[in-house]
Amino acid sequence: MKKIILITWWTGYIWSHWVVAFEQAGYKTVIVDNFSNSSIYTLDWIKKVIWYKPDFFEVDLKNKDDLEEIFEKYNFDWVIHFAGLKAVWESCEKSTLYFDNNINWSNNLFLLMEKFWVKNIVFSSSATVYSSENISPLDENMTTWKTTNPYGTTKFILENILQDLAKFSWFRVMNLRYFNPIWAHSSWELWENSEWLPNNLLPFIMKVATWELEELKVFGWDYKTIDWTGVRDYIDVVDLIDWHLKAYENISSWFQVYNLWVWKWVSVLEMISEIEKIIWKKINYKIVERRAWDLAEVYCNPEKALKELWWKTRISLKESLENSWKFYNKK
Ligand code: WQD
Repeated sequence: MKKIILITWWTGYIWSHWVVAFEQAGYKTVIVDNFSNSSIYTLDWIKKVIWYKPDFFEVDLKNKDDLEEIFEKYNFDWVIHFAGLKAVWESCEKSTLYFDNNINWSNNLFLLMEKFWVKNIVFSSSATVYSSENISPLDENMTTWKTTNPYGTTKFILENILQDLAKFSWFRVMNLRYFNPIWAHSSWELWENSEWLPNNLLPFIMKVATWELEELKVFGWDYKTIDWTGVRDYIDVVDLIDWHLKAYENISSWFQVYNLWVWKWVSVLEMISEIEKIIWKKINYKIVERRAWDLAEVYCNPEKALKELWWKTRISLKESLENSWKFYNKK
């Protein structure tokens, strides 16, 4: 009997990869999304890849009654919860929206999981939960408060809610802290909400490379790093999904937390030069002021996932960037 997974807030093109990967792995997925920053057309893309559209419901998690009808309809085995809005810059401008959306609406989901005895959850958390005073490489035992932005605060609070649910309500929680996901699978022509400006480095560089944007703004050139620009840990979305598929086989205690990493740290200028080597042209950029929430270095220590789950990434940064270019260059 296929395990049924509820996927919430698969917002944006990147999370559609999950649906395809899980369906291809033999799970049945049921999607709930309000399409606030994704598009219903993404379902057409999924149909192109797996020949059918998974069950989906255009529902806001804030509408608990609508959500309850879905729980009544399916006998879920798992929930994957992406917890809604994810743009760091936007969370700084609309913090109460993020608190309402990511925290209050998530609790509707947790209430129904408890009511219907759906106790297994994989939560997509984030490196932004780590306190700004920590020095990279970050490991899972480091402090996770004093976040630098409201998005990170929502993830921190949700992690703690889930820890309590694990402790007092028999939830089994696999808490995965993403560092910097980069989307790369070029064989999938995903629909991307065109008026949705890229919030992250890679989409921005690719839009400059395809002249959709005039130049890249490099936020800060005075960090104590290898070349004075921000250093991050970029993980390919295909590796992220691989991790998610593995997570279910390895949930052994009530609350587990793992960093998702690649053990290859890249500065902004290094990323630009890696991409220039692939596309054979220069990327226009201009050094500007730092962003208020940015840290110099955010990358992690992968020991725990390596030791406990023998998990390591398969997709190199070069392969990721080549795939990404194939997609952006043919749009
Ligand atoms: C990366 C680097 C910028 C854009 C991400 C995700 C967030 C969370 C944590 C999962 C920084 C620099 C960027 C640009 C630039 N992941 N940059 N010019 O801030 O590390 O946060 O990881 O939950 O969802 O957003 O990612 O791609 O915005 O920035 O110079 O136009 O690139 O300063 O050093 P960030 P990012």
